[in-house]
Amino acid sequence: MAAAPTFELPDTIAALPPRAFEFSARAREEADAIVRQRPDELFLRLLRDQESEAVLLVARRVIDAFLRQHTRPHVRQHTRQHTRPQTGVPADGGLPDDASAGDIAAHVAKTRAGLAVIIGSLPDTEPDTRDTVLRQRAPLGLLGGCWLDVLSQPATQPSVVVNRLFAQHFTQRGEGNPRRSLHYLRRRRMEEVGIYLPETGAADFLARAGARPLTALHGSFYLALSRLPASFLPELVGVHYVFHALGVDDLLLGMAPMLAEPALRDVLTAYLELAGTAERRRLHAGIRLAAALEREHAAMLAELATWHQGLSLESRAAAVVARHAPFAGRHHRGVHVGGRPLSATFSDPGLDVAKFLREFREAGQLRRTRDGNSRFIRAIKFGGPMFGIFDEREAAVLRAWVESVQAGERPEIVISADTAGDAQAAVRAAAIAASAPADVVIADAGAPNDRELLYRLVNIENHANTLPLAKERAARLFAAAEILFTHGAGGRYTDASYFDYSPEALYERAERVYWEKLVEPYQPLAEIPDRDEVVFLQTTYALGALVDAAWIHRVANLGRFERPCDSALFSIYADEMGYGDLRKNHITLIHRALHSMNVALPHIREAAFMDQGDLPDELYGFSLHQLCMALFPDTYYNEILGYNLAIEMFGLGELRLHEIQKLRHYGFDDCYEQAHLTIDNISAGHSRQAADIIVCYLDEVRRARGGAAVQQEWRRVWRGYASLAYFVEHALLKQVTTAQEPVDLVI
Ligand SMILES: [Fe+2]
Ligand SMILES: [Fe+2]
Repeated sequence: MAAAPTFELPDTIAALPPRAFEFSARAREEADAIVRQRPDELFLRLLRDQESEAVLLVARRVIDAFLRQHTRPHVRQHTRQHTRPQTGVPADGGLPDDASAGDIAAHVAKTRAGLAVIIGSLPDTEPDTRDTVLRQRAPLGLLGGCWLDVLSQPATQPSVVVNRLFAQHFTQRGEGNPRRSLHYLRRRRMEEVGIYLPETGAADFLARAGARPLTALHGSFYLALSRLPASFLPELVGVHYVFHALGVDDLLLGMAPMLAEPALRDVLTAYLELAGTAERRRLHAGIRLAAALEREHAAMLAELATWHQGLSLESRAAAVVARHAPFAGRHHRGVHVGGRPLSATFSDPGLDVAKFLREFREAGQLRRTRDGNSRFIRAIKFGGPMFGIFDEREAAVLRAWVESVQAGERPEIVISADTAGDAQAAVRAAAIAASAPADVVIADAGAPNDRELLYRLVNIENHANTLPLAKERAARLFAAAEILFTHGAGGRYTDASYFDYSPEALYERAERVYWEKLVEPYQPLAEIPDRDEVVFLQTTYALGALVDAAWIHRVANLGRFERPCDSALFSIYADEMGYGDLRKNHITLIHRALHSMNVALPHIREAAFMDQGDLPDELYGFSLHQLCMALFPDTYYNEILGYNLAIEMFGLGELRLHEIQKLRHYGFDDCYEQAHLTIDNISAGHSRQAADIIVCYLDEVRRARGGAAVQQEWRRVWRGYASLAYFVEHALLKQVTTAQEPVDLVI
């Protein structure tokens, strides 16, 4: 067998090797159903569902549909037969694939100037129209950057480019403070001008924004990219640069960019240094696509503004009626307009709003009453039966219309429907429906062995068909670990015995484990084991270290990050990744340590890692468990919180101090151990934060659902803690299981 390629720092990948995307037949059926839904439903599904196999297939199809429309036929650089000799610009007017970062920046700046003219005129329109435009843009402005949510993952760490992007992600996330995040600041800016929208993940988010199908489809593309970021790294780099450098949202909202163009260009330059021909071609597809999308969206906003400004009073009144008619239900049963009960008129799917308004303006309800109003206006005022149904703007439109009716105006009622962006939306929706990427393979996950399972979980974007196995495996382990609820007190490094939750009890337990099990037993080693033994023990830890922090790499994504516990978890994760600074990145540190011990391994994302001969087979279970739960950040949220506390504490005290002593003795690099000694500490480090996060989460539960719900949720949190103990307390488990009936140990 040929020697496996070994991984060397720095990690210079510009793209993962092209691989097929495997899905089960069931996921294909589900995905078919999802793409048949309306654009707003597609958007919501992509936003909310970060766990299912079907959504990853939907994401693959959406990306394919969008990229396909903006991929040039292959242009060979060396022949340049498709380029204009004078300018080096391809015949399609775009950039050549070998363009420098400066060329790209100049090209994008030109596009930006064009967009600025369109956008510049939008905020100056009348307030009502401006409000409509800003709402329409909000879904994209509030999800911009989501493609970086899980770009940092076991398959892509510690890549140079991924960490450059992660640093920008951290900036946009307000450096861990959600109140300083890009999305929060944008939201606040909108609120300053009177636009209040629900949270991004809320069911009525798109409706309240008044999102047109095109907006929902564009959003769906960015969300799709955020679901498969590792596989589409080159395109993602292009999208990231263009979206932020164009700065449509900053222009519209009059805000300074959070990531200035030179910082964005630096990442682009760094990428170009690593990219080969194929990656550059893909980068340019991303650049072209993002530029086209933003041009398309800006044009649609302009179309929307023109339509809105040109609306007659009747059309505005009609829009209000049309908006509320579906919710009128069986109200108004006794009210007749045009000889028909309103309950029948409004529940009619073929409701003709123009006809209704024609009849309504002649109805008694609008006739001027002695107080100068009308029955209808009295009904919508404070004290009236319809008070609060219409918001301020809607009520103002209706009042103005009634006044014009009372003044005797009887214009032709022509309702001009809002169709902004619909032609482009139809093209994009058709492309999604027709998309059948050639790299999608329908396959059963089978029963992979541990090595293959690790490979599949690390490369989960390509092996989504493994998700059900992962979910089931994690569930099995959490259940099995509950054995330590009864016997856990005897643990050498942990105490997973169950206790009723209170914040004090949790802190007390953590402190006690720290002092009694981790710190007090510490004695410096009187004798250092031999070199091989030291290296062997390190390798037993290494497999876990290579997926360090993976258990929380998906917890704080779009639609979730606003929750205080999630942003705190994101901060821990960011710390583990060195905030994008490779010198502090824990995955870099473990590779450095292994290198110093002459342990040469392929990267865990490589198929060759399945054949590695250095790290023992028996230890795969630990890393597998970590990856399995990580892929279900919603389902196993509680368990992840408990596991997080356990693993952050596990590295404290004696164990690590001994390792450091041994490594130093042989002159090995102890950077990984050293970093954890301080960063995980219990007074303010990750361990303390992990306990605080549990307390914060359970307090949210108490406030939302009451004290009884807290103990149920807590039990699941503590299962997560126990599941780490389950892997490290071998002696205890052996004792327990020989005393009782055997438990199926997955370790
Ligand atoms: Fe770490
Ligand atoms: Fe940590």
